[in-house]
Amino acid sequence: MHPLAKRNWWKEVVVYQVYPRSFKDTNGDGIGDLKGIIEKVDYIKSLGIDVVWLNPIYESPNDDMGYDISDYRAIMQQFGTMEDFDLLLTRLHQNGIKLIMDLVVNHTSDEHFWFKESRKSRTNPYRNFYHWWDAEKGTPPYRWSIFDKESNAWKYDKTTDSYYFHIFSEKQPDLNWENKEVRKAVYEMMKFWLDKGIDGFRLDVITCISKDTRFPVLEENMPVGAWFPYYSKGPHLHEYLEEMNREVFAKYDCMNVGEASGISIEDALLFVDEERNELQTFYHFDHTGFGISKENFMYADDNNRDLVEWKKIFDKWDKVFVDKGWGTIYLGNHDMSRMVSRFGNESDAYRERSAKMLQTFLLSMRATPYIYNGDEIGMVNTNHTQIENYRDVYTINYYNQLKQKGGDYQGFLNSHAKISRDNGRTPMQWDNTAHAGFTTGKPWLAVHENHNILNIQEQESRPDSVLNYFRKMIQLRKQCDTLIYGAFELIDVNNSQIIAYTRQLNKEKLLVVLNFSDSQAVLNTTIDLKNSTTLISNYEQTANNCICRPYEAVIYQLETSNN
Ligand code: NOJ
Repeated sequence: MHPLAKRNWWKEVVVYQVYPRSFKDTNGDGIGDLKGIIEKVDYIKSLGIDVVWLNPIYESPNDDMGYDISDYRAIMQQFGTMEDFDLLLTRLHQNGIKLIMDLVVNHTSDEHFWFKESRKSRTNPYRNFYHWWDAEKGTPPYRWSIFDKESNAWKYDKTTDSYYFHIFSEKQPDLNWENKEVRKAVYEMMKFWLDKGIDGFRLDVITCISKDTRFPVLEENMPVGAWFPYYSKGPHLHEYLEEMNREVFAKYDCMNVGEASGISIEDALLFVDEERNELQTFYHFDHTGFGISKENFMYADDNNRDLVEWKKIFDKWDKVFVDKGWGTIYLGNHDMSRMVSRFGNESDAYRERSAKMLQTFLLSMRATPYIYNGDEIGMVNTNHTQIENYRDVYTINYYNQLKQKGGDYQGFLNSHAKISRDNGRTPMQWDNTAHAGFTTGKPWLAVHENHNILNIQEQESRPDSVLNYFRKMIQLRKQCDTLIYGAFELIDVNNSQIIAYTRQLNKEKLLVVLNFSDSQAVLNTTIDLKNSTTLISNYEQTANNCICRPYEAVIYQLETSNN
């Protein structure tokens, strides 16, 4: 089937992720709020994006910053009210921007009504909403938990003399999707939001909703990576997704994107082949391990990054969706450190250049691009090495555990200086005033000290800023179907400094050249660039030759005779 035969609006959009807690605070409590997002709708519109994805804004005790929901139908008080939400939705829609919400249904907060009921007695009507292991069966087979203070996913609960299961923190008990009542309640809740007019969902850890609930005893010292089959992609996953699609998605013109750890190239189409009526898209994690050790998940060092291997990941994933399905592309989000620090170069000399280069990459691939707030101006990591500077449950609990057990907690902190989630969660840098114009109070997480020089106000006024480049690049994508639907082909694959590829649709052929290094690089190709047209470049002038300057990014429109 030709790609043009299956155009969809959700393939053509550019998604901008807003992390509400750090976006804009209007009441001086140091925490971003919905009124703050409303205040910035004009700014969001000025970027040219089409869809906003909001991280969870529901009522939550914030053990995991909103990913522990205590009421799916209420707005977190720190963020505002349902009236604020309705106004935000209206303002976005008036400006032609769609809104997708985070759907966190693998688990709830332990303060959710369902869980409070569930833990009351073994016969409570909500008992089976969660996974319980009665103590008379003995200690449950060990399961690793990513955020737990002791890395143990089972938590003993005295009231009913049983353990409950939680992949994430002990305040995030996993819902039991095998219970039809749970699924029904989730679908009703999804319809509540879609009926309000939202345009879709980002589905948090969606592959985990079906798991191996026999909880077999596993091998001791199993490496973390090997745990996944027991946590996700369980025997009923496709059944549940198909049901969710039938009960909810099919009834609305909406988009969805699943967070899909554990999905491989081999089973990708089982999720997004249109004919299977499950998901539209998902995002994988294969490229996010750049520089991170597979053994201990610590950041190794900048030299431990193999660009050739990395580009092949994108190539492999593109090939999966040539005839069916559709991909996504992202380099940053609230679970990652800043894209410039991770994949570009945060030094003063190259920060702007590499930020523009990465934006060119994101916005020229054959997949729906997701841009994380702050990346439009090239915000960078804070690189903290003191635990006091962290707010993330993951960093704090893991650090304390290592410290108590005598593990390498300093090594962990050094690694987290590079890859911690809080690096990506620092407040938006609106201007050079105190706290970067984010709040008049004390920010919940300290603002990056470089906001004096790196901020939106400064970049607004400068035509060659990262921000203005971002706007130009989005416009280019929007005006150019080839950048959205055109066939993707890597060239000079073994070049260890450059990622280069062509995009072709009908007669139009483009060449994207991205130097991922801080030194000059030469593209090895027979394509003649002399008579090509430069559509965009992050240097003032392009030489139309194969020599690339540090972090240079260029998109050429090739002469038709080259095609
Ligand atoms: C993935 C989310 O992106 C992350 O922020 C969260 O901590 C976990 N899921 C648990 O909900």
